[in-house]
Amino acid sequence: MLTLARSITHTLSERLAVYQQEGLLRQLRTADNFVDFCSNDYLGFARSSELKTAIRQADTTHANARTGATGSRLLAGQTVLADEVEQELAKFYQTEAALIFNSGYDANIGLLACLPKAGDTLLTDELIHASMIDGARLSYANRHRFRHNDLADLETKLQQASQQGGQIFVAVESVYSMDGDLAPLRELADLCDQYSAALLVDEAHATGVYGSGPNGQHGQGLVVALGLQDRVLARVHTFGKALGVHGAAVVGPAVLRSYLINFARPFIYTTALPPHSLLAIRCAHEQLKINTNAQQMLLQQLNYFRQQVSAILPGATWTNSQSPIQCLIIPENEKARAVATEAQKIGMDVRAILSPTVPVGKERLRLCVHAFNTTDEIDQLLTVLQMALLKNYSL
Ligand SMILES: Cc1ncc(COP(=O)(O)O)c(C=O)c1O
Repeated sequence: MLTLARSITHTLSERLAVYQQEGLLRQLRTADNFVDFCSNDYLGFARSSELKTAIRQADTTHANARTGATGSRLLAGQTVLADEVEQELAKFYQTEAALIFNSGYDANIGLLACLPKAGDTLLTDELIHASMIDGARLSYANRHRFRHNDLADLETKLQQASQQGGQIFVAVESVYSMDGDLAPLRELADLCDQYSAALLVDEAHATGVYGSGPNGQHGQGLVVALGLQDRVLARVHTFGKALGVHGAAVVGPAVLRSYLINFARPFIYTTALPPHSLLAIRCAHEQLKINTNAQQMLLQQLNYFRQQVSAILPGATWTNSQSPIQCLIIPENEKARAVATEAQKIGMDVRAILSPTVPVGKERLRLCVHAFNTTDEIDQLLTVLQMALLKNYSL
């Protein structure tokens, strides 16, 4: 038995060594006290003392609540609080119903694995998040990818799918996590209508950032910002990014909620979120309504960042992004990593995204601009990147 365990651990070490030789070894790294240009805490909610106090107060008011959910929502984990928070979310996201999942990863797996059945077709943008890809892999539907944001390619695939019969589903992100660009949601909704396809939108990076109000200050996401909520079957909102807490919800028609309660395995076969997390989700949404300046600040810092990029790094290549996710393309893993290291040396939390996570030749620094980043920090970051690029990569 011991010999078997040794030979398996040896195999695992060998596999890791190959990964290391290829420069791909992932390691956990703490970046406390660094200037944050990495996290998805776009509005600074995760560090907000107001939000922390509100959550603490809510916990006190619910002092009798259990520390854990103690079971799946279908068993002991169901609470009045969970139903109440879901009703609040449905109202906030301007739809009939919401169903909370333990994370965005779980929500996407659940949704994509159970909605399209055998004989149906699932069309996915080639750049969708790993959680949607994994969910799609678990589905028995016919699956095809269309080129990123390419409506003509999608239409070709919709035409082919409509000849095969079955229901058609199209899955996209509203703000793409690795490029920061936006999906053409209006045009996608038009195409979906034309081919009677159901549109599924992952709003992970739009939640809290875009929404109704002149500066998107209500934060319900890009679908609501464009008034498309009645033309999208399901939206996935995650709460671990701009909302600064944890968990996610799928929002849409009431029948979708019932369907997911019956068929979404990551909802059925897991212990539900504890009351503390539900209260945190409620408080974070209340914070969005109270702190209406946050999006304005984010927009201001983002505009400053874009303006300084033109001044300090005019020759650099960026993805086509207007969102807080700004990606500097530095082809080759080693070079991307070397430039990130230079920024880290002066205390900037900047991470390289390497191939195969992104395509070869599209390795990058994924920089996130936040409402709390100062103009000085932005200047320092862009200056160190300029110097590092000159050193490691002729601009
Ligand atoms: C586009 C997108 N969808 C879903 C997720 C998963 O969300 P969560 O972190 O809540 O699991 C992420 C997180 O990285 C994401 O970027």
